Amino acid sequence: MFRKDKGSESTAVAVDEAAVLANLRKIIDPDLHRDIVSLGMIKDLAINPGDGGARVSFTFELTTPACPVRDQFKKQAEAATLDVPGVAAVDVKMSANVRSSGPASSAGQIQLPGVKNVIAVGSGKGGVGKSTVAANLAVALAQSGARVGLLDADMYGPSVPALMGIRAQPRVDDKTLIPNEAHGVKLMSIGFLTDEEKPVIWRGPMVGQAIKQLLGDVRWGELDYLLVDLPPGTGDAPLTLIQSIPLSGVVVVTTPQEVALGIATKALQMFRNLRVPILGIVENMSGFHCPNCGHETNIFSLGGGKSAADANKVPYLGGVPLDEAIRVSGDEGLPVPAGQPGSVHSEPFETIARKLAAQVSIQSRRAIPLVVK
Ligand SMILES: Nc1ncnc2c1ncn2[C@@H]1O[C@H](COP(=O)(O)OP(=O)(O)O)[C@@H](O)[C@H]1O
Ligand SMILES: [Mg+2]
Repeated sequence: MFRKDKGSESTAVAVDEAAVLANLRKIIDPDLHRDIVSLGMIKDLAINPGDGGARVSFTFELTTPACPVRDQFKKQAEAATLDVPGVAAVDVKMSANVRSSGPASSAGQIQLPGVKNVIAVGSGKGGVGKSTVAANLAVALAQSGARVGLLDADMYGPSVPALMGIRAQPRVDDKTLIPNEAHGVKLMSIGFLTDEEKPVIWRGPMVGQAIKQLLGDVRWGELDYLLVDLPPGTGDAPLTLIQSIPLSGVVVVTTPQEVALGIATKALQMFRNLRVPILGIVENMSGFHCPNCGHETNIFSLGGGKSAADANKVPYLGGVPLDEAIRVSGDEGLPVPAGQPGSVHSEPFETIARKLAAQVSIQSRRAIPLVVK
């Protein structure tokens, strides 16, 4: 509850809803480029007259709990309300309701009724840290309060069980797989169903079939974001998968040298041809953080991801340095946003997760009805 300083404002002015909303309307969402009232973010507005002036309360419903401007919004809303003549105190409750931005599933596509947004994480080739980025982003989103799932769709090199530190066989209930859960994220991977020591031999059509089962025959429940760690590259396996689910969009992970070779651009072109919205580029292994002296070195040069994003007119979500703590956390199955939240090691993922969530909100903007009050 925020109060005005004693001595300011007279007490006699009656406050109505319209006056409060008119002031709140001046707050513009920097990503959605619309005011917070018409975006339907102000709920349960109540005005109670009091001795020293009116007490106003409302819920500020964000489009994602990982909103990058959450704290700023709260302060702005408090200030805008206190600015209304006759208001003595304000109480703003922050909440979030993630909207769905995915297209309606078309014929032959897998239906995921409780899942609001399916986000693919792809790359031009393997070994760029795609799975590391996918797992850490999933945990960072979950830490922000979102309901998150992670599907490991890399049938040839499933790494989610190791990255998330869980190997248990998922339970089966009524022919449906119950996903495993670790660090607040629901997980499914072919690695949970196969023997770690034995290679799995996949023939072409089997891959598509197995992926469909791992995605569709799973009780995901209600999820705000389901991240899909795609098979690397631009071949048949990622292609089949992309076509079989209604995607909100894709994040492309690249290393600086991959950008230099144009491999990431090829991946961007593939997603574009498939009409999948590109939510942004993440540059992984972007600079090296020396654990001994703290010195930053740009082993592979730097900034390629940003220039590739600019050249292709897609958002740049940020860079993740080559960091031993990230590699160790992956080996130990404890992603840095869970093991060391708020640290220098997890900060890149936390920032990228917020930017990604904002991009998903932008995609869902078309689905947000204009609220006229
Ligand atoms: N930013 C990083 N800092 C340190 N090591 C990393 C980083 N990103 C990935 N790695 C390491 O690089 C290797 C390959 O990463 P992985 O996520 O499996 O790549 P991909 O899924 O693209 O094949 C792993 O050993 C991982 O721990
Ligand atoms: Mg991988």
